[in-house]
Amino acid sequence: MSVAIGSDHAGFNLKEFVRKHLESKNIDIIDFGTADEQSTDYPDYAVKVGRAVAEKEAAWGIVICGTGIGVSIVANKLKGIRAALCCSEYMAEMARKHNDANVLAMGGRTTSPDIAKRIADIFLSTDFEGGKHSVRVGKIHSLTKR
Ligand code: RB5
Repeated sequence: MSVAIGSDHAGFNLKEFVRKHLESKNIDIIDFGTADEQSTDYPDYAVKVGRAVAEKEAAWGIVICGTGIGVSIVANKLKGIRAALCCSEYMAEMARKHNDANVLAMGGRTTSPDIAKRIADIFLSTDFEGGKHSVRVGKIHSLTKR
């Protein structure tokens, strides 16, 4: 299982924290940057992560900016991507069980490292429930075809 990860400057510290946490669990990480806290543009990183997931280079994506809002908007522009902005463990669980989210978005200025670590762990280990939720997810993707 590979996880693509990327952030802008506002998400850099949280990205590094989450990356190291996942690497400590022997999860293979593809890090698309950014590499420091110098001001940069979040769409550049969110699109790289989203493309890696859409093209199956990675099974999952994690995108981080100041609030998580900008990166989630960008990632959701890509076909096949279901990015979910999660601020709690419950949201991470539901994003997987009900929405089959394949990209996790978080805010470096809004979510503590400890909560982010737990959100990432839940996101990466929770299965989609399928059933009626498959019908709903299918309706999302039928919209992107129009
Ligand atoms: C950067 O200042 C900030 O606007 C960005 O990280 C993000 O929060 C945008 O949604």
